[in-house]
Amino acid sequence: MEKQRLENRQRLVVVPAPFQGHLTPMLQIASILHSNGFSIIVAHTLFNSPNPSAHPHFLFIPFSDGLSHEDSIISSYNLTTIASALYTNCAAPFKELLLQLTEEAQNIACIIYDGSMYFVGYVAQQLNPPTILLRTTSAPNVLAYHSLHRLLMEGCLPLQGESLVPELEPLRHKDLPTFISTNVDTLLNQMNRLQLGIKSSLGVIFNTVDCLEGQRVDELRQIYHVPMFTMGPFHSMAPESCSSILEQDHSCIAWLNEQALRSVVYVSLGSIITWEEKELTEMAYGLANSNQKFLWVVLARAINVTEWVQSLPEDVKKAIEERGWMVRWAPQKEVLAHKSVGGFWSHCGWNSMLESVYEGKPMICQPCFGDQRVNSRLACHAWKVGVEWSSHVSERGEVEKVVRTLMLESQGMEMWQNAQRMKHKLRQAVTQGGSSYNAAIHFLDHLLSIP
Ligand code: UDX
Repeated sequence: MEKQRLENRQRLVVVPAPFQGHLTPMLQIASILHSNGFSIIVAHTLFNSPNPSAHPHFLFIPFSDGLSHEDSIISSYNLTTIASALYTNCAAPFKELLLQLTEEAQNIACIIYDGSMYFVGYVAQQLNPPTILLRTTSAPNVLAYHSLHRLLMEGCLPLQGESLVPELEPLRHKDLPTFISTNVDTLLNQMNRLQLGIKSSLGVIFNTVDCLEGQRVDELRQIYHVPMFTMGPFHSMAPESCSSILEQDHSCIAWLNEQALRSVVYVSLGSIITWEEKELTEMAYGLANSNQKFLWVVLARAINVTEWVQSLPEDVKKAIEERGWMVRWAPQKEVLAHKSVGGFWSHCGWNSMLESVYEGKPMICQPCFGDQRVNSRLACHAWKVGVEWSSHVSERGEVEKVVRTLMLESQGMEMWQNAQRMKHKLRQAVTQGGSSYNAAIHFLDHLLSIP
């Protein structure tokens, strides 16, 4: 019966990029579509493969990616190498998979793929199934390609650090995403891929909200004349399911339950951070000396955290024991929704940003690479819910100061109020009649109209 029902559904193939911050929004959009009557095939790499048991209604089909087990230790240092290896290795196996699906008469209504898996666009052009792009970052990240292209044409590369990019204010040149190259050939190549991906698709989905960046998405609509759907934050609309690659440690929720209202700062710098012991130690000193409660996600692959904690001075160890809780990976959305959490020290990954403002939590913004500086700039200078923090600690006392700003000072209180206002707007956007709700309806109609 279930099989019969599934066979009658329109089939969609979704192709996520194999990184936590990309996998999550793709599986969320797939869940939204499944709950609206579509059948889902997840075509995925073996590298960082999703957990099928968390999505029993989807069919998971892996394709070869040519990566070794050692590559699974991913960091900001090897990310670009892994990404380009994946994209070179995957085109042929993905094409084979698609041909196989077509041969088995699995009529594919559409392929929805992550914009960074651009080989999917090339393969789809050869085999003809329609495609839709998912952009998992903010709209200014896409517009940044155009700004860099303009600067290239005007002979203004290399970039001049502090000055503002006029069409992308409040972004400065130095905030432009690091994954866009300023090397002439590479930039032109990236620009071609971006334009081809968007122009050859029947639409683009953004995990964003009109009240945050509707104007930016309008600019993209004017450039590309392709339907664009701002239906975020996806996590608020997707049926509850876990897309975490790492196991989440729920012990922290019991700990949060015992803490006072808004008393805890939640610290997590995402899934691709590379910790140096020195940085960890400065963070430990700062958190200890701030005198605040803290829940700290320490995803240190190259450091033995237990041994490192033991090596800390007694007073810092004592503060961690008495006022802190450390986990390797947390159930972040639950944590951010918790009433004991008063602020979020974040690396500004786009998912973390959306999850934070959806819960009305202000942030310490410590961007590291890629799109994170763009996101940090938006949070601190456009939305005014974040305090900017550079990753390079030069003096003891700096971390403590920024944590106290967030949790205790008037600037932190103002950010809290701004974040609460944003929370309200985001919640309106996803309820009936709201912009994201309507965008989701338009997107479903759009999908159903594909011949
Ligand atoms: C990566 C890039 O770093 C980021 O800049 C880009 O915007 C997306 O891809 P990542 O570092 O994983 O993302 O950060 P983010 O986008 O914030 O996604 C992390 C996801 O993992 C979030 O959905 C968050 O809820 C989840 N998470 C994080 C956990 O479930 N537990 C944790 O302890 C930390």
